[in-house]
This record gives sequence, structure tokens and C-alpha cells, in this order.
Amino acid sequence: MNAPVKTSEAVAWHLQGNWAPVLDEIDAGPLTVTGEIPRELDGSYVRAGMNPRSGHSDHWFAGTGMLHSVRMENGRAQYRNRFVRTPYFDGDLNLMGGMFDPAASPANTNVIRHAGQMLALEEAHLPWKVDSDLNTVGAHTFGGKLEGSMTAHPRACPETGELLFFGYQLARAPYLTYYRVDAAGLMVEAQPIDLPNPVMMHDWNITRNHVVFMDLPVVFDLKAAMKGEPPLAFRREAGARLGVMARNGAGGQVRWFEINPCYVFHPVNAYEDGESIVIHVCRQEEAMVGGFENLYGGEATTGRLWRWTIDLVGGTVKEEQIDDAAADFPRVNDRLIGLKAQFGYTASLNARAPTLTLGQYLYKYDLETGRRTTRDFGASSRLGEPIFIPREGAKAEDDGWVMALKHDEAMDESQLVILNAQDFAGPPAATVTMPRRIPYGAHGNWMPL
Ligand SMILES: [Fe+2]
Repeated sequence: MNAPVKTSEAVAWHLQGNWAPVLDEIDAGPLTVTGEIPRELDGSYVRAGMNPRSGHSDHWFAGTGMLHSVRMENGRAQYRNRFVRTPYFDGDLNLMGGMFDPAASPANTNVIRHAGQMLALEEAHLPWKVDSDLNTVGAHTFGGKLEGSMTAHPRACPETGELLFFGYQLARAPYLTYYRVDAAGLMVEAQPIDLPNPVMMHDWNITRNHVVFMDLPVVFDLKAAMKGEPPLAFRREAGARLGVMARNGAGGQVRWFEINPCYVFHPVNAYEDGESIVIHVCRQEEAMVGGFENLYGGEATTGRLWRWTIDLVGGTVKEEQIDDAAADFPRVNDRLIGLKAQFGYTASLNARAPTLTLGQYLYKYDLETGRRTTRDFGASSRLGEPIFIPREGAKAEDDGWVMALKHDEAMDESQLVILNAQDFAGPPAATVTMPRRIPYGAHGNWMPL
């Protein structure tokens, strides 16, 4: 048996290698491009990530938020990164320190743009507005109507332009609140939802007429904490349910459907099919068993593609595993969010690694047949969330590009890869070399100019 490596023991996985933060803010370019950045791509890829300002954080989720952007124009690319300057940044806080001020967000999980506003998101706090140069503007409360947390996974409806989201809180009821913001950015609905337990609800689903909440058993339990057990942990006995509600809020009336206990960080997409709602998810058997700090526990905490079919008449949910590849960070063509999308794109994970490890593949799924197309980037590559950008005037759903950040562990080099989505396993359209490594992070989006 090999002797344990002291440095690995002393330093948590989320602070090692390319999980470790970068501490400077730079502007660089033009960047080196292999192949050709499609001329149609005029905009910025922006991604959020956990990047502890002090160089240390107690948990991967606790790192100070940093935004990385790659601005593309006329086949050329420029890089910029900036911290999000919230009270969390100013106070160099940890999760506990940021817990009691809704504005003290790490702002490290996602970055979106809606109604012309770019928002940096983390699920336990208010969103933070940033400008197109990534300068922090301030906490965003939708005109004072949002007082607490906003999920990092709001959904913009491609048909109405509405931004639908929820906020959860653990300390007191209501544990869940549903919000609807119109296409102009005005909040038109805030609806408290009854939930039996305060749970960590990372993401959710929308369809044309409904929203679907996921009440999954990562439960906050104060009584357990008083007995010396972790306050937030996987508690299978709490059960699991999907909650279907009309998008107009329906006075908080939710129909709940029992499912087998599991955890889902990220659904792929959901749609209505007659009297059913079909949801594809990256489902894992469990999460955070024994406590919040146990984010990763191997196979059982690794997502795989499943399909849930909610029978709205029969009141049951059919649960089917679609594929056995370890996959998460799923996306679809955003024009089909809540509608029937044929294709889902995911990152891969190495489920046999001792700590959370991104994989060397990107996957394109045909959600109907379950067929997986694999793009292999080589053994030393680690790929992040793939986003899809449609070609202007596209007729086919997958006519466009898939963009993802890749890090080569052997070279310690980060690149943005741009694939032709219809030739997914083929050579990239372009590979853009970053001016320095970009730490593994969370979610991002394409913001056209
Ligand atoms: Fe997420």
C-alpha cells in the first residue's frame, strides 16, 4: 500500500489541482484559436464558479463567486474574470458567516441574463446584478419583492419570456416560495408553498403550463443537530415527492406524487405529453449521506440519466433508468426549455474516483431513444457543463454549437471547446486556449450581444 500523501490529506479536494482558486482578475486577448470560431458567434460565454478569495473554503459550495467570460466577435476571443463583490466577498465569509444576511451571497453557482439584467446566483441568497463588463452593481430584489433566496436554476420560458424560479429556506416556514417574473423583469407572482420538511432544493422543472418541484430528502433537521448529528443530511426516511403546480401559482395548490428516495441536482428538461409530464433527470441514489460535508460518496452520489413520467390522472410516477453512464450538468437547447426536446447534452463524471472528478467525455443524448453519442477528449481532459447555442435561423433542434470548458490535467491548461452539435463526436469547430487555467466551477450561459 502506498504511503499517504501528506499534502493531499491536509488540503481538501476542492482546493487541490484545478479546483484551487485563481486570485487575480485579468483581461487578456486575443486568445489563441485552433480551428475557427464561427463568425455567427457574437457574444460572451460567461461561467460562474467557486473561487475562495482567501485561498481556503470549508466546502466546495462556500467559495467566493468569480465570473469568467470569453467574449467572441468576428472569430476572435478575449478573456476576462472578476470576483462578484458582495458582502460575502468583502467580509471574506464562509457559509456560516453568510447565512444570516440575504445579500451576503457567494454568487458562485450560475450567471444568467433576463430582461437585460445579468444576475450572478447562489441558491441561499439574493441574486446579484453585474454589468456586461462583469462589474458588480448590487443585490437585485425585483423592486423589493424578493426578500430572501433565489435558486441558482431559474428557468426562462422560451414561449412567454417569463423567468420562473423558486427560493427555499431552511430556518423557518415557508420552506419554499414560488416566483414568476414577466418578460420585462417585473415580479408578478410570489406564492408560498407548503413543504413538510426544509430541504435543499437545488433545481426544478417547468413545462408549458406547470412547474414541478422536487422534494428530495436532503433535509435540514434542527432536532438532529441538537443530538449532535449533522443538521443537513440525506434522510431516506423523509421520502421523496414531485410537486406539480400550475404556473400561475394556483394559490399554492400543489399535487404531490411519491417517488423513490434519491437526489437530483439537475434535471435535463421536462415537457407535457397529454395527461403526463415527462422529466429527464441526472438522478443519483443519494447525496450528502451523514452530512453536508459529504458531497461526494462515489457511485451512489453520481448522476445517471433517468426518466420520470408523471401520470396526472393515475397519480403515479413511472421511474426508468435510461443509461448507465455517469453524467451530470445537463442542458438542452434553451429554446425548448419546458417543451419536448429531443437532445440533451451532459458532462461526464468519473464515478470510481476517490473525490468528485469530472470526466473526459461530453455526451449528447437522444432523450427519446436513450441513445448516447460520446465525444472523447482524451484521458487527461476534464469537461464542464456543455451549453448549446442555436445557429441563427436554425430549423433543426441541434443546428448550432455546443460549448464547454475543458481542462487538461497533464498540461494544466484550460480551453473552451466549440463543437458542431450535429457532428458531436467529430473534430471541434474551434478550440480557444485560455490565458491561464480556469478552475472547475458550476454553470454558465451564452449571452449574445
Ligand atoms: Fe447546479
